[in-house]
Amino acid sequence: MTQSGVGIKIIGCGSATPSQVLTNEQLSQIVDTSDEWIKTRTGISRRHLALADESLSELAAKAAASALEMAQLNPQAIDLIILATSTADDLFGSANKIQHLIGANQAVAFDLTAACSGFVFGLSVAASFIRSGTYQNILLIGADLLSRWVDWSDRTSCVLFGDGAGAVVCQANQTEDHLLACELYSDGRQNGSLNLAYQSESQPMVDNLQVARGGYQPLTMNGKEIYRFAVAKVPEVIEKALFKANLQAPQVDWLILHQANQRILDAVAERLQISPEKVISNLAEYGNTSAASIPLALDETIRQGKIKCGDIIVLSGFGAGLTWGAAIFRWGI
Ligand code: ACO
Repeated sequence: MTQSGVGIKIIGCGSATPSQVLTNEQLSQIVDTSDEWIKTRTGISRRHLALADESLSELAAKAAASALEMAQLNPQAIDLIILATSTADDLFGSANKIQHLIGANQAVAFDLTAACSGFVFGLSVAASFIRSGTYQNILLIGADLLSRWVDWSDRTSCVLFGDGAGAVVCQANQTEDHLLACELYSDGRQNGSLNLAYQSESQPMVDNLQVARGGYQPLTMNGKEIYRFAVAKVPEVIEKALFKANLQAPQVDWLILHQANQRILDAVAERLQISPEKVISNLAEYGNTSAASIPLALDETIRQGKIKCGDIIVLSGFGAGLTWGAAIFRWGI
């Protein structure tokens, strides 16, 4: 238990994905690739893509409503909404739109950006607010529509990404702290390995004054660098979190990693000597959904009835920034 005597418990989860699906076969009609290459190199078969008239806020609101239903919590009981995303509908943020859509009118709401680590970073922020006694009920959402920012002519990156949203409800708990450890890291030296960056063009105004008039350019990625980073740093951060939680790898019941590539999932599990049946993977259906991937996989596994009360779940996110982190919690509603 924490010093203030307040622990954190996850009391509900939910997820949502767009209904439109793009298969590997269909992708091979757009770029020079094949179903066989994508499956063997990544484990991905399909990805769900938002239509032009679908919004991140709406998808996230669906996931949030489902999490609130499982938690049996009225939206008005939510004190804080954290939206982890890199693809907000609005650069000023989308969390407030979601607050309105789900009717959580007592909640403070803000966006948090840490790419594919966003959900784990958000969980740590939520825990801090709860443990400090500031808030009782926090809705944490991970949602991204990277299909809007992928270069659909770049076969080295476009095959990886899909759209989705996942959410959890975190609640203050006086008797037990279910979040056993959280470790977060950033390293800006490798920032150039994965970007969705603003590119400015100079526009003259008056006299010698200029203003930047540009736009965000499609996602660029050095796949090999990210792969190397992930297989080195993810096992390390999980080992640190296990040490903090006073746990050994064999005590882990479920490993839910950011769903980037099946080969990364396998390599991390092998390094930690966690058996493959404990590794959750839904990459084949959704690809990499960025900040949504961990809560989406968590929600699916919970709803399939695989995760039992008291199970130890290890989460780890990694991605652009570069950022990475791990969280360990005990499931039990
Ligand atoms: N179809 C067919 N061939 C391809 C494709 C494709 N889609 N993409 C690349 N190739 C080719 C390459 O051109 C190369 O050909 P060459 O040998 O003639 O030069 C060959 O396949 C091998 O390419 P590699 O880059 O070596 O392939 P690799 O096995 O490394 O797989 C991949 C590439 C899948 C991108 C891998 O490096 C990876 O998954 N990296 C991690 C990426 C990641 O997780 N990014 C997201 C982080 S999360 C976030 O923050 C958003």
